[in-house]
Amino acid sequence: MILGVSGGIAAYKAASLLRLFTEAGHHVTVVPTEAALRFVGAPTWEALSGRPVRTDVFEDVHEVPHVRLGQHADLVVVAPATANLLAKAAHGLADDLLTNTLLTARCPVVMAPAMHTEMWQNAATRTNVETLRSRGVLVLEPASGRLTGTDTGPGRLPEPEEIFAACLNVLESRPRDLAGKHVVVSAGGTREYLDPVRFLGNRSSGRQGYALAEAAVARGATVTVVAANVSLPDPAGVEMIPVVSTEDLRREMLLAAADADAVVMAAAPADFRPESQVESKIKKTPGGDAPEIRLVENPDILVELVRTRVSKRPVVVGFAAETGDANGSVLDHARVKLERKGCDLLVVNDVSGERVFGRDDNEAVILGSDGSVTPVALGPKIALAHAVWDAVAGLDQ
Ligand code: CTP
Repeated sequence: MILGVSGGIAAYKAASLLRLFTEAGHHVTVVPTEAALRFVGAPTWEALSGRPVRTDVFEDVHEVPHVRLGQHADLVVVAPATANLLAKAAHGLADDLLTNTLLTARCPVVMAPAMHTEMWQNAATRTNVETLRSRGVLVLEPASGRLTGTDTGPGRLPEPEEIFAACLNVLESRPRDLAGKHVVVSAGGTREYLDPVRFLGNRSSGRQGYALAEAAVARGATVTVVAANVSLPDPAGVEMIPVVSTEDLRREMLLAAADADAVVMAAAPADFRPESQVESKIKKTPGGDAPEIRLVENPDILVELVRTRVSKRPVVVGFAAETGDANGSVLDHARVKLERKGCDLLVVNDVSGERVFGRDDNEAVILGSDGSVTPVALGPKIALAHAVWDAVAGLDQ
């Protein structure tokens, strides 16, 4: 989640709010405005959150933080929200990292205003608050009481505990439809080693698998991730099983599936492996021929997961990365694949060009073995993840 802090004297109280979140196990990225840093400095936020702190969009540009932070957050809370910040948010201004994050956020947004009574009661602020509320932003009422100096009246930042409780309410209003379920997700791409340093691999980053894991945690599931060569931070609250080759992945998936309610094969297993793996590095021989590598086919894990289950448990979900060709469209190929694999759901990605690999966005169609077709519009991988779990939950009804 994101804690935005704008420049008011109450910024120091946001440090207590941050503590409440981190102690409850939330991963919080603090995004202060420049003005907020005049009240409480970046070292405080970094020390309390354990994460780097940035204020503008021109730092770490390669990570595109102004888009990524908002898209990936499950909640953005701004405390304190000054009159200036409310005005910028209401008008869609984006001149620092916090206001950019507010524009890209697809999650609930909570604002806890703090300002002088006159500013809170000013017609401009009233209109801005109305606008934000009409767009679904939860703008908390400020508390009444002593303000900076000797004046009193409405405008005080609500107590951190109250803001915290309001945020938990918002977070808990998402479906907990996977509570009590165990789900297993594979992620990443397997590697088949030729010798100790060389391997056959593929471009899967593991992002979609990790998004599925995060979404399942948020919906209350117990989650196991079997991760093949993924170099992303582990998703919070998940049992992680690292693997390398398709055979490792197969073994761990079959084991974990034994007591699972749903398994999702989001990983890209290598279909072939070298017939033999040599123990020392393959050398060039001057003037000699290039080595020939014979490949043998790997087992199809998805098919095996379907074949070994009992009474149609667990639900089995596959992914299909397809391109259309002379023999048929993406969906034609996908329907054949769904039939061949025998799984309950197949999430179909069109991977023509540079469409999916390593990107934060994904667009897909979820095909059901019952003939259902659910398109999922282009959006962050976490949105596709929730669409997959919606489809899985739908099978139980
Ligand atoms: N899969 C698997 N085991 C394999 C290969 C693929 O479990 N050895 C799973 C993938 O994780 C995915 C689904 O099967 O969920 C479809 O993967 P894809 O590569 O599209 O299918 P293939 O069977 O390899 O078909 P193709 O011939 O189109 O590559």
